[in-house]
Amino acid sequence: MEQTLSIIKPDGVSQGLIGEVIKRFEANGIRIAAMKMLQMTKKQAQGFYAVHKERPFFESLTDFMTSGPVVAMVLEGENVIEKNRTLMGATNFKEAEEGTIRRDFATDIEKNVVHGSDSPETAAFEISYFFNQFEIIK
Ligand code: CMP
Repeated sequence: MEQTLSIIKPDGVSQGLIGEVIKRFEANGIRIAAMKMLQMTKKQAQGFYAVHKERPFFESLTDFMTSGPVVAMVLEGENVIEKNRTLMGATNFKEAEEGTIRRDFATDIEKNVVHGSDSPETAAFEISYFFNQFEIIK
């Protein structure tokens, strides 16, 4: 069964959206296989978003992602990478479809409530960044 990494970002946690986001996952047949709350260090955030290190928003993004706690989850289900991306909506909330998490709650292209892996390769890297094999419930 496919897995993906989801993060409820600091703006999602501070807006009180943990329950709302998880409700949307479960209502859409996605299983939570692992979950933890943590506050990332700058180094952890830089490593997680290393693919974006040349982008102009890298500094601001890694500051934002360390500004408060996040909830990291392993989601499991059929076609869950794509399913999660559909539920999240476009990175830029102004372009996100109605009824998506980002359209409903994002306030900024950066403060867009949730992160989700964009491919099986990224998912494998991102899941292992936060979880070891014993923390992922079969
Ligand atoms: P995410 O899906 O976590 O992947 C990279 C993040 O960078 C993105 O969501 C946004 O939070 C942030 N970001 C900020 N500015 C931009 C931008 N111009 N384009 C894409 N992502 C951006």
